Amino acid sequence: MLGASGYAGRELCSLILDHPEFELAFATAHDQRGVKARLGRHAIDFIATEEAPLADAVLVFSALPHGASREWVTRIREAGACAVDLSADLRPGNGCDGIPYGLTELMREHVLNAPLVSNPGCYPTAILTAIAPLLQQGLIADDATIVVDAASGVTGAGNSPKRELLFGEIAEDFRAYGFANGGGNVHRHLNEMRAVSRALGCRADLVFTPHLLPVARGILATITVPLRASLSGDVLAPWREAYDAEPFIELTNEPPCLRDVVHRNVVRIAAMPLTGTRSPMLLVLAAIDNLMKGAAGQAVQNANLMLGLPETVGLPA
Ligand SMILES: NC(=O)c1ccc[n+]([C@@H]2O[C@H](COP(=O)([O-])OP(=O)(O)OC[C@H]3O[C@@H](n4cnc5c(N)ncnc54)[C@H](OP(=O)(O)O)[C@@H]3O)[C@@H](O)[C@H]2O)c1
Repeated sequence: MLGASGYAGRELCSLILDHPEFELAFATAHDQRGVKARLGRHAIDFIATEEAPLADAVLVFSALPHGASREWVTRIREAGACAVDLSADLRPGNGCDGIPYGLTELMREHVLNAPLVSNPGCYPTAILTAIAPLLQQGLIADDATIVVDAASGVTGAGNSPKRELLFGEIAEDFRAYGFANGGGNVHRHLNEMRAVSRALGCRADLVFTPHLLPVARGILATITVPLRASLSGDVLAPWREAYDAEPFIELTNEPPCLRDVVHRNVVRIAAMPLTGTRSPMLLVLAAIDNLMKGAAGQAVQNANLMLGLPETVGLPA
């Protein structure tokens, strides 16, 4: 495990240590190399990345920061191990198309037995899983704009110290972020979401505004979708059709909240028509735990498939 001392890495170490078929071969850190860390009932020693015996592992997870991960994924593959990269480096839309993308429920056939998988970002996991059935079933209006407001807990920003993430800055506050040069719709997850949604048949524009929630973990995405025509009958029918029997997708008639999903490897989705609009619109809500389904849980789900294990093994439903 590379980047084991970070938020995603620690979550992943816990899953690996409790997994019935996995053993943790090594756990690396950068500033925290040499530290002995307590993870619940487990204790682990962080070694330097350069000391990781990559060839001793069957599969290596990289939870290194984006920019630093790509080079290490190359080294992992050269050492003969499989790799799951949690960073943005190898995701679609980032100049690396063709590498299997581990949005498991939608791309399972590409992940199965693959030697290398790029694990999705946390916001894209919630948002793409929520809108994919509408895209795949051609239900979104031509030339529409899908508007996404999503809020994340602060672990989404990683655990390196940042002034704007100090307790005194975020507690009892709520703000949008991800602007550049006075403009919005520039968050780095947009490339990934645009590339994947286009591959799923999307011709709509995507407007995405992330917000910072003063909680540790969890993402709630509120998505407004212009429809080609009103949906009659069961409004969740497109999701039931797409995700029938999926163990990690939950459909609900009630708006999902973070308490429903934290520490669980699920995407919880609700949909409801909007009244008072000139053309048919749907509100889709999706909640995930950014560190679980949005990172470590999905990485284990993918690793299970890559290694020919049952997809759900070692994962909290
Ligand atoms: N946090 C999330 O919700 C989330 C969700 C999905 C995907 N991801 C992705 O997962 C990756 C890790 O995210 P995170 O939030 O866990 O970040 P983090 O808390 O900042 O952890 C980064 C990890 O990488 C190590 N590291 C930092 N710079 C390094 C370098 N130059 N060389 C080698 N190791 C280095 C850190 O070691 P030290 O601790 O010793 O400095 C730490 O183990 C990122 O690529 C992120 O985009 C995160």
